[in-house]
Amino acid sequence: MALAICMTMGSAPAKSMNNSNINTAHALPRILVLATGGTISGKKNEMSAIGYNAGGVTGQQLIEDIPELSKLAQINVEQIANIGSQDMNDDIWLRLAKRIQEVVARNEADGIVITHGTDTMEETAFFLDNVIHTDKPVILTGAMRPSTAISADGPGNLYEAIEVATNAKAKGHGVMIVMNDTIHSARWASKTHTTSVETFQSINAGPIGYVDPASVRFVQPPMLMDKRYPIPAAAPLPRVEILYAHSGMGASIINDLVKDGVKAIVLAGVGDGNSSKPVIDALNRAVKQGVIVVRSSRTGSGFVNRNVEVDDDKNSFVASYDLSPQKSRILLQILISNGKTKPSEIQTAFESGFEN
Ligand code: SIN
Repeated sequence: MALAICMTMGSAPAKSMNNSNINTAHALPRILVLATGGTISGKKNEMSAIGYNAGGVTGQQLIEDIPELSKLAQINVEQIANIGSQDMNDDIWLRLAKRIQEVVARNEADGIVITHGTDTMEETAFFLDNVIHTDKPVILTGAMRPSTAISADGPGNLYEAIEVATNAKAKGHGVMIVMNDTIHSARWASKTHTTSVETFQSINAGPIGYVDPASVRFVQPPMLMDKRYPIPAAAPLPRVEILYAHSGMGASIINDLVKDGVKAIVLAGVGDGNSSKPVIDALNRAVKQGVIVVRSSRTGSGFVNRNVEVDDDKNSFVASYDLSPQKSRILLQILISNGKTKPSEIQTAFESGFEN
C-alpha cells in the first residue's frame, strides 16, 4: 500500500510531492515536519539509568514509527538540526524562519510542525511567532521522555501536533506549542516543570485549545497579532543579556556588560520587576550610555506594569508587561535588528500582541 508519508532528509528543501502520493492521498493535507532534535529524538544513554542523548533519532524515524499518520497527512520531513535545545541558536532560528516563510510563500505545505527540545521550545516558538507572516498553522512539539522510554510521550505529542496542523480551525492562531493534549499560543507558553509531561503552561492566559486523537478544540479565538516583524537578515542577533536579580545584589555585573558592548539588558527582577538601589542606579547609567533596559520579573507569572515601584519615565526603562525575561530578550533582539531602539517605540512593541 502506498503511504501518504513522503520523507526528504537533509537541510535541502523538500521536493514536491510525487505523483503516486498525489494520486493516493490527494485529499490529505500536506504537512512539512522540520526536525531539530531534543528529547523527542533522544535515545537512552547506556552509561546512566535515567540519562539520554538528545538528538539520537532522526525526524524521518520519528514519523516512520507512527504508521497512523499516513491516514492524517501527506508528510515531508526535513532535518534542520539534531541538537539538544540548550544549544539552539540564532543561526538555526533564522534557517527555520526563512524556510517556513519560503514554504508558505510557495504554498508547498498546509501546515508546519517543528520537533524541538522542550528546554528552549518557548523561545523558538516566540521568535518564529514574531517574524513568520502566514495564517497557516506552525506548531512546535517535543517530549519530556526520550523515544526509548517505556512511557515515551513523543509519539502522542507528534501525532497530535500533526492532527492540529491539519485542522482548518488552527488557521490564524500564529505559532503554537502542542504538548500533552494541550494547545498553547507561543505568546503565553512556558516550560514550568523540570520533568513532568504537563510542563507547558500558558501563564496568565490559559491554553488556547485541547487535542486528543479524535478531536481538536480551540477555546480561544485567534489572537490579533498586530505587529509582526521582518525576519532579521543574518546571525548573530544583537547581544541582549538577562540579569537575574537577587537580594543583596551589586552593580558590577552591569558595569561589565556595558563595557563589553551589550545592546540591551533585561532585568529578571524581583516581584514587580524591581532590584536593589545599586542595580537600578547602574541600569540608569547604562541607559544614558545607549543601552536599552527592560524590566521583567523572575516570578514566572503576572504583569510588570510601567512606573510601579520603579520610575520608568524618569529612568527611560521599558516595562515587559506579560513577557518573561527570555521572551523579552527575543523581542528586543528582533526590534533592534529592525532598527527600533528608542525606549518609547520599544514600549509600544511590548504592549502590542497580547489582547484579542
Ligand atoms: C532539550 O531541550 O533538547 C532537552 C530536553 C527536552 O527536550 O525535554
